[in-house]
Amino acid sequence: MTDAYESPKTALITGASAGIGLSFAHEFAEQGFDVVLVARREDKLNEIAAEIKARYGAMAYVIASDLSEADAPQAIFDTVAAKGIQVDALINNAGYAIDDGFAETTWDTHKRFIQVLNTSLVHLCHLFSEGMIERQYGRIINIASVAAFSPQYKGSLYGAAKSFVLDFSQAIDMELKGHNVFCTALCPGFTYSEFHEVMGTREAVNRLPKFLWMDSQTVAKEGYDAVMAGKPVYINGLVNQGMSQVMSALPLRVKQFLADKQTIFTD
Ligand SMILES: NC(=O)c1ccc[n+]([C@@H]2O[C@H](COP(=O)([O-])OP(=O)(O)OC[C@H]3O[C@@H](n4cnc5c(N)ncnc54)[C@H](OP(=O)(O)O)[C@@H]3O)[C@@H](O)[C@H]2O)c1
Repeated sequence: MTDAYESPKTALITGASAGIGLSFAHEFAEQGFDVVLVARREDKLNEIAAEIKARYGAMAYVIASDLSEADAPQAIFDTVAAKGIQVDALINNAGYAIDDGFAETTWDTHKRFIQVLNTSLVHLCHLFSEGMIERQYGRIINIASVAAFSPQYKGSLYGAAKSFVLDFSQAIDMELKGHNVFCTALCPGFTYSEFHEVMGTREAVNRLPKFLWMDSQTVAKEGYDAVMAGKPVYINGLVNQGMSQVMSALPLRVKQFLADKQTIFTD
């Protein structure tokens, strides 16, 4: 992939205060990017920014933002523009899952979930892709999941939200790649992070075999390499690649049977 203009470039990473997003912040800084770190926990982001500046000599900016608020993407875009920063790489990583039933969960909880996982992600792509097209350089990584290929979990919006990210990312990659702007849907499987603490499923997933798990540094490194190579979809790790292929090939009735039988998060 060709570079349209000289470094330093800047990467904006959502959900940079923990887990995969934190690893993406380190990966992009190590590769010579300045970084803009976005999440709600400003104190954590400030600590991470100081560490990144010290370790890589990169500029590291902090924007405390709650992406479940509808006006957050525009506010992030305006803040970045006011600082005179051009965003060359956008990593839409912020996310979580809810472990309660669909009907028993309030509409406000569902609405905020869709806003974080889907609407804010699309809005940020829309806001930042214009400048990327103008400059004829851009890299976008949208974090989907192997859940986009898996049988559904009862009552959960998570698989549907990640399927949307998978499909949307491929659609915009087709439109943007002619401008040297590439979008990768990154599909991790089980990854060590704060995700399962937030979801309240740590005890249940700790029973899963070790070979199913990856560390967040490897997930981020593979994601960086995938977008720089212009791959529209990248599934992390051989185990996840194999399982996703099998799951994609399953007849719908088998997938539905497996969905009914799965008990990882319900035992
Ligand atoms: N871990 C896995 O097994 C796994 C597998 C497949 C896909 N994924 C996906 O990978 C991505 C990163 O997850 P992770 O595993 O790294 O989880 P994590 O360690 O819990 O990190 C989630 C990040 O998202 C941020 N975030 C959550 N809600 C937010 C909000 N309303 N506004 C702004 N930021 C928010 C959190 O920051 P604050 O709390 O500071 O706001 C945190 O930085 C997610 O999209 C997740 O769905 C994870």
